[in-house]
Amino acid sequence: MRYAPLVARIAGSGADVWKTHFRAAKLRHEEGREIIDLTVGSPDQPPAAAILDEAAAAMRRYSGYAAILGGFPVRRAVAARMAKRTGMPCEMANVAIVAGAQAGLYFALQCLAGPGDEVIVLEPMYATYEAVCGATGATMVQVPLLPERGFHPDIDAIARAITPRTRVLWINSPSNPTGAVFEREEVAAIAALCQKHDLWLLSDEVYEELAYARPHTSAWSQPDMQGRTVVVSSLSKSHVVPGFRLGWIVGPPPLVEHLFYLLLCAQYGGAPFLQAGALVALTQDLPEVAAVRDTYRRRSVEFADLLARAPSCRPLRPEGGLFVMLDVRGTGISAPVFADQLLERENVAVLACDGFGPGGVGHLRISLTVDDAQLAEGGARIVRFAESLRSA
Ligand SMILES: Cc1ncc(COP(=O)(O)O)c(C=O)c1O
Repeated sequence: MRYAPLVARIAGSGADVWKTHFRAAKLRHEEGREIIDLTVGSPDQPPAAAILDEAAAAMRRYSGYAAILGGFPVRRAVAARMAKRTGMPCEMANVAIVAGAQAGLYFALQCLAGPGDEVIVLEPMYATYEAVCGATGATMVQVPLLPERGFHPDIDAIARAITPRTRVLWINSPSNPTGAVFEREEVAAIAALCQKHDLWLLSDEVYEELAYARPHTSAWSQPDMQGRTVVVSSLSKSHVVPGFRLGWIVGPPPLVEHLFYLLLCAQYGGAPFLQAGALVALTQDLPEVAAVRDTYRRRSVEFADLLARAPSCRPLRPEGGLFVMLDVRGTGISAPVFADQLLERENVAVLACDGFGPGGVGHLRISLTVDDAQLAEGGARIVRFAESLRSA
């Protein structure tokens, strides 16, 4: 049978990134091997009991349909939080609740770009971006973020990539996989480019609570940008509830009106009880959120220090997020081969960044989301493996 052209556009190299992850799962289940899995970005702490309790209680109260764009209370809470954090007006009419940031990016970009349009993405980028862009039919134009600049944006390079077809400039800070947290001035310069060239600014802020080197600057905080800015975020990382699939899109009200029709045909509302749990997360200052941030801040420093002992490798201490990048270009083998052999010989699973865009080639993305003891053991095995390469 024939499938629609869409199927080819959603299965690019980004989808291959997870190869090592799936191989690790297979080894674990079929061969019973004990693998230290440092591939996924799912925080390892338990979520706040207050969120779970409210979601569970709400499920007993009501498990019917929720409003298409999300219930009023949770949309209002997202808006109030955004207004408080950025100092810029944000109302319920600016907000749509979606099934995680992933769905948020997908739905938002469907409304912003289509065939014939160009979408500028800074790479290395999160592995799903290619398919999200491909699904719209738009062309993705990648602008490299260079390791020599700590993966911070080169505003001139972005400006050079803009053409009359460009519709969207897509950023992600704190970034996955690089861990860069953009400076306020960098976000302002990117916003200025969007104004000058009449572009949408799409900002993936899913790691907003996990900024270590400097405070997170939301794209929404930029003056006179609320008509062209779309922020996507979720509770997945900050509140350790990725399974809730609870995220949001903040944008101009006309976008939210278009999203209504898209969500009407795509998902017909989310889970009302999870939105009730989200309300607790969004309206209370839960100590668990700070604890999660402190844990990853500490682990990122300790783990990068540990990896610095790996010969011919260079760890990049992240400025935010859940990952450490390891530059293995000096080892003489490619990052995918490094990842494959590390898994076979040391039972440690990490991701090669080659599928995160050309700038990721030669780097590994190593997740900090296992407990301290496992992380220390995983790091020691990576060092041992790098040493074995040198002696070979
Ligand atoms: C950069 C980035 N954006 C979006 C997502 C998707 O997040 P969610 O779980 O909210 O769908 C992830 C998840 O790992 C991510 O790393």
